Amino acid sequence: MSRVFSGVQPTGNIHIGNYLGALKQFVELQEEHDCIYCIVDLHSITLPQDPALLRKNILDVAALYLAVGLDPKRSIVFVQSGVPAHAELAWILMCNSYTGELSRMTQFKQKNKGRESAPAGLFTYPVLMAADILLYDTDIVPVGNDQKQHIELTRDIAIRVNNVYGETFVVPDGRFLKTGARIMSLDDPTSKMSKSAENPLSRISLLDGPDIVKKAIMRSTTDSEGSIRYSRTEKPGISNLLTIYSVFSGKSVKALEKQYEGQGYGTLKKDLVEVVWESLAPIQEKYKNIRESEELLHILEEGAERAATIGAATMKRVKDRFGLGLK
Ligand code: AQP
Repeated sequence: MSRVFSGVQPTGNIHIGNYLGALKQFVELQEEHDCIYCIVDLHSITLPQDPALLRKNILDVAALYLAVGLDPKRSIVFVQSGVPAHAELAWILMCNSYTGELSRMTQFKQKNKGRESAPAGLFTYPVLMAADILLYDTDIVPVGNDQKQHIELTRDIAIRVNNVYGETFVVPDGRFLKTGARIMSLDDPTSKMSKSAENPLSRISLLDGPDIVKKAIMRSTTDSEGSIRYSRTEKPGISNLLTIYSVFSGKSVKALEKQYEGQGYGTLKKDLVEVVWESLAPIQEKYKNIRESEELLHILEEGAERAATIGAATMKRVKDRFGLGLK
């Protein structure tokens, strides 16, 4: 069985971009793979976090993992900082990464915009991500398109170490969906939907109520042409709505173009509100029960123990290859 690993940052309410690009894949993959899913809290502190809010967000994301369908009997679910080997391996990999390659990362450039000086952790974030993945001998990493460059870097680091020290790491592949790998912002369909965007109506969070879902979709930016057809370059707003509709409903974009031929944007938006809410309502119902249960903490503790055992075997191999510590 192939090993799958991925994670989400506890930096705020998970939105439908995170869900359609990543979480939905997590659930599908657990049917046939050996899956490890992490709440990457060490990544979240690359930018300042309120400690009490961070603790809350960690449990919120964990509860959402289970509410969307992750089954702790099939998948390991845990919090990254509960397994210290992530940080330990990150240091070793940092000694095998170059400032030149890290300064080419577009996510760093975007997040660093307007700052005089960046936290060193923001700069080395992709190396910690490489450590997360390589620690578990991962074959497949299901992520959104924005992580493509980081996956490439992870592969480069793994190949580099293997070349110098002998076979140490499995070289992983990213898994990106054809539809849904890049959900765009609802108020500016030329930039990706993001947890940290200023306008809350630029995204739909998995825990938003029906009124907010309606407001965000009905007010979403479109164009003045009036015809419902898919073209990312000419009609980014409508194309984004069609993508969201397609992934939530299971209908192809082509079928939707046909269904809405000759109809107005208002009709498409009204129907999309229904489609999105139909998917979110059951997730929210499950979330409420899980978030309040004691079981959640047990699942995370057990998950961390299982992950630590797998990680320990990799760390032993890495230390042997590098000649670290005693035999
Ligand atoms: N807009 C998106 N469309 C599809 N997939 C997306 N992902 C993020 N945004 C989209 C994927 O969701 C997973 C978890 O993301 P993350 O929590 O690690 O952080 P991120 O990529 O930085 O997401 P955000 O929402 O934009 O957060 P902030 O605003 O805090 O930076 C990843 O697999 C990601 O690809």
